[in-house]
Amino acid sequence: MGLIAVPSPTQTSTPFQTTANPQLEIRGGRRLSGELEVSGAKNSALVLMAACLLTRDTIRLRNVPPLTDIAAMGEMLGSLGGRVVRHGDALELNGDAINNSTAPYELVNSLRASFFCIGPLLARMGMAKVPLPGGCQIGTRPVVEHVKGLKALGAQVTIEHGVVTAVVPGRGHRLTGGRIHMDCPSVGATETLMMAAALADGETVIDNAALEPEVVDLAGLLIAMGAKVRGAGTPTITIVGVDRLHGADYAVIPDRIEAGTFLLAAAITRSHLRVAPVIPEHLGAVLTKLEEAGCTLEHDGIGLTLKADHLNAVDLRTQPFPGFPTDLQAPFMSLLATAKGTSVITENIFENRLQHVAELQRMGAAIRMQGNTAFVEGVSRLSGAPVQGTDLRASAAMVLAGLAAEGITTVRGLEFLDRGYANLEGKLNAAGACIERVNAPGSSASIAA
Ligand code: UD1
Repeated sequence: MGLIAVPSPTQTSTPFQTTANPQLEIRGGRRLSGELEVSGAKNSALVLMAACLLTRDTIRLRNVPPLTDIAAMGEMLGSLGGRVVRHGDALELNGDAINNSTAPYELVNSLRASFFCIGPLLARMGMAKVPLPGGCQIGTRPVVEHVKGLKALGAQVTIEHGVVTAVVPGRGHRLTGGRIHMDCPSVGATETLMMAAALADGETVIDNAALEPEVVDLAGLLIAMGAKVRGAGTPTITIVGVDRLHGADYAVIPDRIEAGTFLLAAAITRSHLRVAPVIPEHLGAVLTKLEEAGCTLEHDGIGLTLKADHLNAVDLRTQPFPGFPTDLQAPFMSLLATAKGTSVITENIFENRLQHVAELQRMGAAIRMQGNTAFVEGVSRLSGAPVQGTDLRASAAMVLAGLAAEGITTVRGLEFLDRGYANLEGKLNAAGACIERVNAPGSSASIAA
């Protein structure tokens, strides 16, 4: 048991401090076998944690992965007066003492998803001050839809000096249900607005809502807390606000992106491997593309077993769910860099999410770029090289490429990888990979005179 904690993002290193710079050293070319276990979904767990702000009772979340992003969200809730305690894979969250409606910039800046706290904070406290998260490595990432929706629920919202201030006018400081049409089906905005509407006065209808499984998972928790939510998983979600929500005990869904990454690890090493637990409906487009490329998949009710031998090129375009997920575009590109023929991959969701191309090219991949499209001509062997993960999923793509490459690949940028994969190298090593976490040469200490 322990309070969740991460190093403060405000901590800076001095020239006298020891600065570890870990990297993964991967000896490629080994087949994997056995089974890889999938943890709870990071993106679900983050938003379910924010939902604890909606009640004074305790929420128990099971199947929460031990990730730095989860710890950062714990820190955010702590800064607002909440209490988060971990017991094994479960978190106990209590928002009874929430006394602060202002989120610190450092935390929102280090974890974009913590901006989603604006919805439940506003619903519970009648006001919220949350800094704009800004862009990140993969794109500008606007929050226009979140703000527009909160206004439709009666909040007065101003944005000044990089901070969003939202206030519910009137004596009761209670949001009012309303009709919201989203111009794009943003996952985060759908979740923010569902949480805000859960305690609003009257009915809210969200049109063009995101269909992602994480939205359905949030609806599951809200319903377990006593909320009235219909239609999650369809484009129209209806929420009838209630006066209060209560505690709940709830298990997070398996992480579809981690599961997809593991299936790709099996495919890129041309292995025979089981990945579990997997909900196949959460990965429909990905499984179809794996089969189109020549993989065999078998579902046994809990897990999926993948067999791969000779693989062919396939084309894919990222889209909102149930389309091909942007979060698996980079990992899938690593696979296609080793498949026979030319694959055409188009990134439609984030404008800067093809930075891994240059790193894959360093490993011998034959890729040509045109705008947001990559033409990937499969090569018979990638070759190990030092590479840099530029964001979470790009780092995973580098690890996959390293598993298949001849020789040693060193992957830097583990601060990204550790945000979204729990013990990735430990899990892969147990299935036969050879990956070591080491400190980059010369980085163990930097002592200035
Ligand atoms: C979530 C996921 C992230 C995933 C993404 C898309 C979490 C914590 N993160 O991010 O891993 O890659 O969904 O599946 O759940 N957009 C606007 N205006 C807005 C909001 C979004 O134009 O107000 C656009 C974005 O620029 C992007 C698209 O909508 O092109 C999808 O973004 P969104 O669904 O909001 O992503 P997140 O919820 O931030």
